[in-house]
Amino acid sequence: MQCSLVSAAARYYSSCMTTSHQPVISATGLFTPLESISNEELVKSFNEYVSRYNAKFADEIASGEREPLTPSSVEFIEKASGIKSRHVLTKAPILDPEIMSPRWEERGNEELSLMAEIGVAAARQAMQSVQRKPEDIDAVLCAASNMERAYPAMAIEIQQALKIDGFAFDMNVACSSATFGIQTAADYIRAGNAKSVLVVSPEITSGHLNWQDRDSHFIFGDVATAVLVEDKAIAPDRHWDILGTRLKTVFSNNIRNNFGFLNRAHPETADSADKLFVQEGRKVFKEVVPMVASMILEEADRLSIKPENLRRLWLHQANAGMNRLIAQRVLGHEANDDESPTVLDTYGNTSSAGSVIAFHKHSSDLESDDTGLICSFGAGYSAGTVFVRRV
Ligand code: COA
Repeated sequence: MQCSLVSAAARYYSSCMTTSHQPVISATGLFTPLESISNEELVKSFNEYVSRYNAKFADEIASGEREPLTPSSVEFIEKASGIKSRHVLTKAPILDPEIMSPRWEERGNEELSLMAEIGVAAARQAMQSVQRKPEDIDAVLCAASNMERAYPAMAIEIQQALKIDGFAFDMNVACSSATFGIQTAADYIRAGNAKSVLVVSPEITSGHLNWQDRDSHFIFGDVATAVLVEDKAIAPDRHWDILGTRLKTVFSNNIRNNFGFLNRAHPETADSADKLFVQEGRKVFKEVVPMVASMILEEADRLSIKPENLRRLWLHQANAGMNRLIAQRVLGHEANDDESPTVLDTYGNTSSAGSVIAFHKHSSDLESDDTGLICSFGAGYSAGTVFVRRV
């Protein structure tokens, strides 16, 4: 009699005393903003800003007191990065040469925050795709490279909006936030502390991008992703075994954003350019490619996976050239689109969400036992690998 009164959750946790727990990916979700900016639109607006700037400061430029600005080019952007367009939450102010930054109405404390709103949209899609109810989920991690505010945590707001019991917290490891989130979730599962964890990555990168900086104005786009990491014991029939996760960080100033609560107090004295994304793109390229390629090969070796047998790489989406080189070093030959799909062309760099978008959009065709790799890399430096196998 008493047995029937014991809840499914209690039975699950009592089974934890005896069984081991294997983390799997049960589902993913994706929110894509409706609006998108093409390279042509972006460069037209940037170059209008450049000519207005150069006209405004014509005298100082002529006397050598000030450097003129140089126009951007569609050809350069596509060739250097592989990006053709990017989705954004607010297109008009970004393209307005007098504004060149996203703008949104400040929301009241009783309204859902913007980050939470798009995070919830992605999370709902992941939950609905495997018929998960709020009571099935134990924890929510908001893993992203920027947080809309210091506290309360974005993750707790997402948790409340989804009516999930349990716990939630934010984590930021820049472009590697999502893979660090997946490993954290997997560790909760492995330890028996949770059976179902949502890793949500709302990346509103248009807010950290300096749209007036020629070297980087084309890089980023907005998006939100969600990954549902669960114990295999409760996973849906079709899922992805997580074979192994590995994280790495090495300090570098080559990608940096000095925005923080200590330097915004006196904006009149602050130099605002370094309170946005800044990078030494060439150094990043040169240093990160070998670091990530060797990390992937070492981890594959540890897991007894032959790199040439990897069916697909869902790599971080920052730069097509970097991905080409990393994939080549890992697979031993130049990867085609099927082996290393890109979403860079239409999404741009979406920070930590990039490899998850690639996985979400380009994984349903894989067959049982196919093995693949979700991999992120970026500021910190940071890098994360998640080897998965289709079940
Ligand atoms: N339009 C036209 N020309 C441009 C330009 C633009 N928007 N921006 C730069 N250029 C020019 C430069 O002036 C330079 O000209 P020069 O050779 O006459 O001096 C030339 O293009 C090369 O500039 P550089 O900045 O060295 O370009 P690059 O080939 O290194 O490509 C990146 C730039 C950013 C795309 C590339 O370095 C990169 O992707 N790095 C890694 C980025 C990354 O992954 N970051 C992680 C973020 S999470």
